[in-house]
Amino acid sequence: MASAVSLSVFRLRLAPILFQKLLGVQTAFITSAAKMSDNDSNSAWRREYKNGESPFLLEENIPHNPTTLFDQWFRNVADQRDLMFEEVNAVALSTCCNNKPSTRMVLLKSYSPEGFVFYTNYTSRKGRELDENPFWPKVHRQIRIEGRVEKAPVEWADKYWNSRPVAARIGSKASDQSKPVESRVVLEARKAELEKVAEANGDEAITKPDHWGGFILKPEYYEFWQGQSNRLHDRIVFSRSADEEGVKPVEDGWHMKRICP
Ligand SMILES: Cc1cc2nc3c(=O)[nH]c(=O)nc-3n(C[C@H](O)[C@H](O)[C@H](O)COP(=O)(O)O)c2cc1C
Repeated sequence: MASAVSLSVFRLRLAPILFQKLLGVQTAFITSAAKMSDNDSNSAWRREYKNGESPFLLEENIPHNPTTLFDQWFRNVADQRDLMFEEVNAVALSTCCNNKPSTRMVLLKSYSPEGFVFYTNYTSRKGRELDENPFWPKVHRQIRIEGRVEKAPVEWADKYWNSRPVAARIGSKASDQSKPVESRVVLEARKAELEKVAEANGDEAITKPDHWGGFILKPEYYEFWQGQSNRLHDRIVFSRSADEEGVKPVEDGWHMKRICP
């Protein structure tokens, strides 16, 4: 089965969120951008991409291991919380089934050389699409990660579920994610019912539904992108495949190459 799953982690996470919001009004947006170009005010949107610490992404200055480089970049972003939104671990998850790509944000809950873990409802649209097609895409810095997803062990989901505030557990349990619901009132009623259960029997009575759990993305491809001035950006790729043009072997069975921006 043709598969495509990708995860994007953004330094300026507003970009994907805005992009998703703008998709619905794309025509209106393009029209207004065209109007703006009439009076040149769109130059205000242009940003020079500069990274003060490491101006260029050069092979000789970076770890030859994508897991280590991912960790460096993620920590660097996490250290700059004041520059962005609170949830630095929000990532864009793309699925693709029947030639229809679909992207939404999820929260990255952990990562290691084994993969990238996020939690969701297995019966939601993404849950079903990940089952059907278990593969997985980020400003001045962006990291694109592609690979195959697997369901994470249920013990991980149990542990994470139990660590969540009871209100979040109630929210997930009350929601048949991606299914139609008649009104917000129906959702509020389900929530109120579960709140009663928690009041009567304690928070632990809000147990994890079987259809809620983690996915782990097993990376097969990483692309580290660093924005540069005049759009001559850096793009360094790590892949598992030795057969691609221009790759050379580096650490832990990875192959590295530079690609054009
Ligand atoms: C910043 C942010 C973080 C989110 N994190 C999650 C998450 O960790 N798990 C999840 O199931 N949905 C999360 N959502 C909601 C999803 O984007 C999406 O609306 C929902 O999972 C249903 O997607 P689907 O119908 O494609 O399955 C998040 C949304 C935003 C904006």
